[in-house]
Amino acid sequence: MSSSLSSAPASPAAALTLPGGGSLRGRVRVPGDKSISHRALLFGAIAEGETVIDGLLPAEDPLSTAACLRAMGVAVSPIGAGEVVRVSGVGLDGLREPEAVLDCGNSGTTMRLMLGLLAGRAGRHFVLTGDASLRRRPMRRVAGPLSEMGAEIHGRQDGNLAPLAVQGRRLHGATIRTPVASAQVKSALLLAALTAEGPTTVIEPAHSRDHSERMLRAFGADLSVAGPAGTDVTVRPGAVLRGQPVTVPGDISSAAFWLVAGAITPGAELTVENVGLNPSRTGILEVLEAMGARIEVLERRDVAGEPVGDLRVSHGPLRPFRIGGDLIPRLVDEIPVLAVAACCAEGTSRIVDAEELRVKETDRLAVMARQLGAMGARIEEHPGGLTIEGVTPLRGAAVDSETDHRVAMSLAVAALIASGETTLGQAEAAAVSYPGFWDDLARLRA
Ligand code: S3P
Repeated sequence: MSSSLSSAPASPAAALTLPGGGSLRGRVRVPGDKSISHRALLFGAIAEGETVIDGLLPAEDPLSTAACLRAMGVAVSPIGAGEVVRVSGVGLDGLREPEAVLDCGNSGTTMRLMLGLLAGRAGRHFVLTGDASLRRRPMRRVAGPLSEMGAEIHGRQDGNLAPLAVQGRRLHGATIRTPVASAQVKSALLLAALTAEGPTTVIEPAHSRDHSERMLRAFGADLSVAGPAGTDVTVRPGAVLRGQPVTVPGDISSAAFWLVAGAITPGAELTVENVGLNPSRTGILEVLEAMGARIEVLERRDVAGEPVGDLRVSHGPLRPFRIGGDLIPRLVDEIPVLAVAACCAEGTSRIVDAEELRVKETDRLAVMARQLGAMGARIEEHPGGLTIEGVTPLRGAAVDSETDHRVAMSLAVAALIASGETTLGQAEAAAVSYPGFWDDLARLRA
């Protein structure tokens, strides 16, 4: 069965037909930042008093976090488009033992941050699971460092794979060097540190997104940041977190699809409103600018401790890029759509040091090589990245998201510049982070 672009896929089995050609024009407001949305719910839950969240992302991943919190006795008001969400905090140690398994759905952030939050709840038992994709993702990267603080976490593959059982214990502070630059790992440890005995310092190999640090401080945590580029974060326990108003900016990882679409589609002119511009997330802008993309930042402002702006993008010729090293954590979720941009840049683009993409919702290096390759891209996969030759004209084809939200939206951007029709299987995956994506696409093409 196939449905047209003007409506979201009717059922999980539906393929979406995406016509090639045409252009994009207009203004779009992307939904709330996914990382900040999870954190607002989680920190609100363990604060004293009420947290009122404006702009929370009403998508499947934050809904998973909210459902887990409700199962542990936290009142979270209904989440929907345009709704202000209220979280009634239960305090640092007020989470109740849930009667059933906590389902984290497709959300790695939910599971990993939850592990840090629950490991120190002494005397309580928790079991966490998720969908088939999440049950394949590595959790030892969190469970291992947490065990250095005294945590007890069991799971398949010696504690690496969900379902995971957490036996809450009194934790002790530690100095922990994390093996990968991952904000999920860092944030889990910072959450565990809030109620550990003694201070905890987390040292990352490179700076990952710092939304947890910013928001925990705003909630009243005793947290300090040091080291080159803010890689060493220390939490001292004892502070009480206070419920706050939180305003969630638009997600730059969702804006990225429009930025690339605007840069590669002939005649395009788009304005993406209210985009979070936290420097730990703006690698995508630096790469697009280095490619020669026409991007302007308008109305830079500060919203609740996070920099925000509107971004105007228009089509033009592009140069190839080379990305790797410390830049990777600053654009880790944007690599699939950058692979599409590379098809439109004259020359060879290279992505290196991106092994982390293999343990995202799917193995994004393999999936993008396979799916974009089916559209005629000259894309070669190697252990830590991709090499892409451009300019390569793409052709419409039968492709599939392989259940990955960012792959679904990246392929939709590729379909815009392909000759002929593309049919996209499992397009509904986009709802994990951007439920209105298909409607926005239809509107901007009109
Ligand atoms: C996230 C961190 C990143 C990112 C994910 C969200 C977060 O993962 O890919 O989409 O909210 O902390 P890693 O921490 O595994 O790099």
